[in-house]
Amino acid sequence: MEFPYAEPFKIKSVENIKRSTIAQRKQWIQEAHYNLFNLKSDQVFIDLLTDSGTGAMSDNQWAEIMKGDEAYAGSRSFELLKANVQRITGYKYLIPTHQGRAAENVLFSAMVNAGDVIPGNSHFDTTKGHIEFRKAKAIDCTIDEASDTSKFHPFKGNVDLNKLEKVFKTYPKEKIPMVIMTVTCNTAGGQPVSMKNIQETSELCRRYGIPLFFDGARFAENAYFIKKREDAYKHKTIKEIVREMFSYGDGMTMSAKKDGLVNMGGFIATNDVAIYNKATVFAILFEGFITYGGMSGRDMGALAIGLDEATEFDYLESRVEQVHYLGRKLMSADVPVQQPIGGHAIYLDANKFVPTIPREQYRAQALAVELYIVGGIRGVEIGTILADRNPETGENRYPDLELVRLAIPRRTYTNNHMDYVAAVIEHVYHTRKEAKTGYEIIYEAPVLRHFTVKLRKI
Ligand code: F0G
Repeated sequence: MEFPYAEPFKIKSVENIKRSTIAQRKQWIQEAHYNLFNLKSDQVFIDLLTDSGTGAMSDNQWAEIMKGDEAYAGSRSFELLKANVQRITGYKYLIPTHQGRAAENVLFSAMVNAGDVIPGNSHFDTTKGHIEFRKAKAIDCTIDEASDTSKFHPFKGNVDLNKLEKVFKTYPKEKIPMVIMTVTCNTAGGQPVSMKNIQETSELCRRYGIPLFFDGARFAENAYFIKKREDAYKHKTIKEIVREMFSYGDGMTMSAKKDGLVNMGGFIATNDVAIYNKATVFAILFEGFITYGGMSGRDMGALAIGLDEATEFDYLESRVEQVHYLGRKLMSADVPVQQPIGGHAIYLDANKFVPTIPREQYRAQALAVELYIVGGIRGVEIGTILADRNPETGENRYPDLELVRLAIPRRTYTNNHMDYVAAVIEHVYHTRKEAKTGYEIIYEAPVLRHFTVKLRKI
C-alpha cells in the first residue's frame, strides 16, 4: 500500500500571520493605490510575492549563525562557505556578494563592455538590466516552445542551439564576453534546462571560444527536474547531477536567496583565475573585501549549510512537489495556468482568466488585486505594467503573456495554505465573468514602473 506523502521536516519555530476582512483589504489596497508592493506584510495573509529570501532556515543553519566568525579577512565562515561551494559546484574561486544582482554587477564590470552582446535563455530582469546599463545587449535564445503556455515540454528553459549559433556567426568573438544560462529559467516560468541542452550549449560555446556562465539562483530545482525527467539521471544523486551541470560551464552568479536557502546573500564562483582576478577588483570596490563581499560571517555560515540542504533529494521533493500540488489542484478545476508547472511558482494566465477586462486596463494586475481582496493573497503581475513603455513611442508594450505569478517560499507554508490559495483562486475564477473593467495609471516612473506605479480603479 502506498501511504500519503509527508514532509521530511517538522516545525520548531512558528511565525503568526494575520487574518483580515474583505472590507479591510479593500481599504488597504485602495490606500496602496492598487499596487501590491505598497502593502505592509501585516496586511497580507499568504505572501506569494516572491520565493526570494522569504524561506525558512533550518535548525542547523541557525546553529551556524551563532558560530559566525566576523573577522574582516579570512574568517572561518568564509572558509566553510568556500569549501562547500567547491564541493557542491566544483568551482574553485569564490567571491561572496550581498545578493544575486550584486554578483551580476561585479562579474559584468569585469567582463562586459558597451556594444557587447550576451546571448542566453530569457535573462532575468536584473541580469538584463545590468547588461543594458553597460550599453550591451541581452539576446534571448530560448526555444520557441517556451512561449506557448498550454504546450507540454519537459525542458522549456532550453537554449535553441540554432539561435545561439546564429548569434555566434553574426557577432565577432570579442563582442560576446559570455553566454548566460539561467537554471531554472525564471522568466520562462521556472522552467528547467536539460542536461543534454547544457552539454550541447557548452560544446557550442567551446567551439566558438566563448565562456559559459550559469545564473544559478534555482540550480538545485533544475537538478531535481533533470533527475525526474531525463532517464539517464534517474539513479544519480542531486549532488552528482549538480556537479555535472556546473562542469559544463566556466562559472556562475548566484542569488543565494533562492536555492541557498538564506534570506540574503549571493556569490560568483568560477574556475577561471583570470576572470576571478579581474572580478575581485570590482568586488572590493562595490561589495567589500573578497572574503566577505557584502555578507556577514554568520550569513556565510548559514549559506554554507543551506547549499548542502538544498541539494538533498528529500528537501527538493517536498519543495517542488508542493508547488505542483497547488498547480494540480488549479488544473483540475480548469483554472488557466502556465504548463508544465515550474519549480518555484504558479503562473495564472490572465488572458484566459479575465479576457473580459481590456488589456489597456491591465488585466493581470486586476486579477492580482482581486486575489488580494478576496483572499489576502499577494502575487505579482508579470504583464503589461511590468513590460514598461516603448522608450521611443511612449506607448505601452503588450507582451504575449499576461501573467500573475504566485511564488511559493521554501519550507514556509503548509499544504493547508495551498488548499486555501487554490480555493480562493477557484472562487475568483468562477465569478470572473462579472469583471469588465480594470485600472488606469495615475503615476508611473520612467523605468521599472511596476514597483512604484499608482493606479485608479475604472
Ligand atoms: N537571477 C534570477 C534567475 C532571479 O530570479 C533573480 C531574482 C536574480 C537573478 C537576482 O537576484 O534578487 O538576489 O538580486 N529574482 C527574484 C524574484 C527577485 O522574485 O524572482 P537578487
